[in-house]
Amino acid sequence: MNTKSLLFVANWKMNMPFTKAHSFIRTHLSALELLAQKSHSTIIICPSFIALSDIYMQTQKTSIKIGAQSCSEHVAGAYTGEVDALSLAQAGCAYTLVGHSERRTNFNESSKIIGGKIRRLLENNIIPIICVGETYNDYIGGRTFDILTEQIAPIITHSKHAKTIIIAYEPVWSIGSGTIPDNDYLTSIFSWLSDTTTSQLPTTNLFFLYGGSVNEHNAQQIIHINHVHGLLIGSMSLDFQKFQNIVSSSCDALTTLK
Ligand code: PGA
Repeated sequence: MNTKSLLFVANWKMNMPFTKAHSFIRTHLSALELLAQKSHSTIIICPSFIALSDIYMQTQKTSIKIGAQSCSEHVAGAYTGEVDALSLAQAGCAYTLVGHSERRTNFNESSKIIGGKIRRLLENNIIPIICVGETYNDYIGGRTFDILTEQIAPIITHSKHAKTIIIAYEPVWSIGSGTIPDNDYLTSIFSWLSDTTTSQLPTTNLFFLYGGSVNEHNAQQIIHINHVHGLLIGSMSLDFQKFQNIVSSSCDALTTLK
């Protein structure tokens, strides 16, 4: 029997307005909890900022965890529209996404900014889920490891004393495209990520996720890859049945293997 516990992160992006997010959890909470217990996995829901407290109130007596999709790199101050990490902790966030490619591209988040966010989250005992990944041009140009090296640097700098961090490898060209990298490619990426970070963060618990076009048909294949501890799921997390199938099939795949 396999005892590896997996992580499943639902990144709802800006696709669940408040009332829809509220009723999704109200409708599916018992099934989600059963799913987490039966599969011995950790399920983390990342709704919009505005739905965090509501979802925390609904889930707080269960094992379902919540996470924000971003946070400010500043502690406090004149940063109109930003949300500080302390408020996220007070709203019940145990995790928070950092450096998603949509943030890097659409909001010009640099490695320096991302480093600041990691720091703020760790100061508030929130586990960062830090996204890294190359664009299509970098992929075909053979620059993936250069890009990852650059993206990993602030993670190392700011996580030296972290108890736990999660790194999500999300190739930008895979997100929302329906295409995922082949197994050999993913195997080389995750083994590089694990080697590089483990040697530089020897006292930190490190977990690695794959994200980008995860669905109920490819989840089993991805979860078998060495050093993959879970999945970061975008569009398929908006459909409860599909999300449930991803979690169950991933956990079944590992159990059957042993
Ligand atoms: P996707 O998104 O599963 O819809 O490709 C993943 C992500 O952007 O985190």
